[in-house]
Amino acid sequence: MIDTIIRKDLENIKNTVKGDVFTDKKILITGGAGFIGSWICDLMTEFGAQIIVVDDLSTGKIKNIEHLTKQAHVRFVQTDICTFKSDEKFDYIIHLAGHASPDEYQTHPIETLQTSAVGTLVMAELARKNDATLLFSSTSETYGDTEIIPTPETYWGNVNPIGPRSCYDEGKRFAEALLMAYRKQYGLDVRIPRIFNSYGPRLREDGLYGRALSRFIAQALAKQNITVYGDGKQTRSFCYIADTVTGLLLLATNSEAIGEVVNVGNTQEVTILELAQKIKEITKSESPITFYPLPKDDPKRRCPDTTKLEKIVCWKPTIELQEGLQKTIKWFTK
Ligand SMILES: NC(=O)c1ccc[n+]([C@@H]2O[C@H](COP(=O)([O-])OP(=O)(O)OC[C@H]3O[C@@H](n4cnc5c(N)ncnc54)[C@H](O)[C@@H]3O)[C@@H](O)[C@H]2O)c1
Repeated sequence: MIDTIIRKDLENIKNTVKGDVFTDKKILITGGAGFIGSWICDLMTEFGAQIIVVDDLSTGKIKNIEHLTKQAHVRFVQTDICTFKSDEKFDYIIHLAGHASPDEYQTHPIETLQTSAVGTLVMAELARKNDATLLFSSTSETYGDTEIIPTPETYWGNVNPIGPRSCYDEGKRFAEALLMAYRKQYGLDVRIPRIFNSYGPRLREDGLYGRALSRFIAQALAKQNITVYGDGKQTRSFCYIADTVTGLLLLATNSEAIGEVVNVGNTQEVTILELAQKIKEITKSESPITFYPLPKDDPKRRCPDTTKLEKIVCWKPTIELQEGLQKTIKWFTK
């Protein structure tokens, strides 16, 4: 059963994305049991596609897609994408497998690099053999500690290649370079959205894996201290999941996105302290905000320039932080 908040968002996405291009298509979704992947699995099944979900459940949850796995046109394969083999003919590969949270990738830096490098090579080869469209979830982290705000795709990045975040940042940069090489050498249909902090229902909040936004909500609801790292003046731009997924699928269906990297994110920039205060206010929590030292190499500002996205798909994320937080908090409260 799909939750009512998610159901309403899925219907809104279906009003914007022309899903019939996916009808009767065979679609491989890596990382499909994760936060973003599970939304895409829901949509693809509703568009009438046949989906094969490959996920090792390292950070994803089977609960996210349990309502789908018994359907005839859905298959779940629990395995590492680096060793995944298949002779099937896929029309699309939506490649989302990865370790997205800093806590998670800094605990498993080698697996993070392998998933981005070896896993993406496996997917690129599968796409090449099948003449499939490959959509790869890259990240704003490829820009590192950016010097240009809002950041356009033309900015090359300011990344520490051997720092604590490098396994994620450099892994994704390698994957982008690899896919662009497949585009150049084999003419592969690759599309590379760079996703900026996404949030919403199904984002994990627990333990090690928690990201700032979901951690703050969980802490506020549990009446625990809200833990801000640094002085809270660092900024992020949070994009509600329905907007993120709409952007990804519009890029998957628009031929002008072939061979392009495109920012997908919301341009509303907030400080982490403002975020904590907003969450406190909406949850009516009395939790105190407490401050801890900022981790090494933490980017100071993050905000996308979405001009290219708007030009290619004539659309941009619009769900305001206040509205997205209210929905997310309602979902977490349930
Ligand atoms: N959520 C964001 O804000 C954000 C921002 C930028 C980029 N991204 C990228 O989008 C993708 C999805 O992110 P998410 O937020 O849904 O994270 P998530 O952790 O919820 O989902 C990732 C999924 O990939 C699976 N996975 C990881 N390594 C694997 C492997 N080697 N083999 C098979 N499965 C594997 C995990 O079990 C999980 O289900 C990631 O690649 C992430 O780097 C996300």
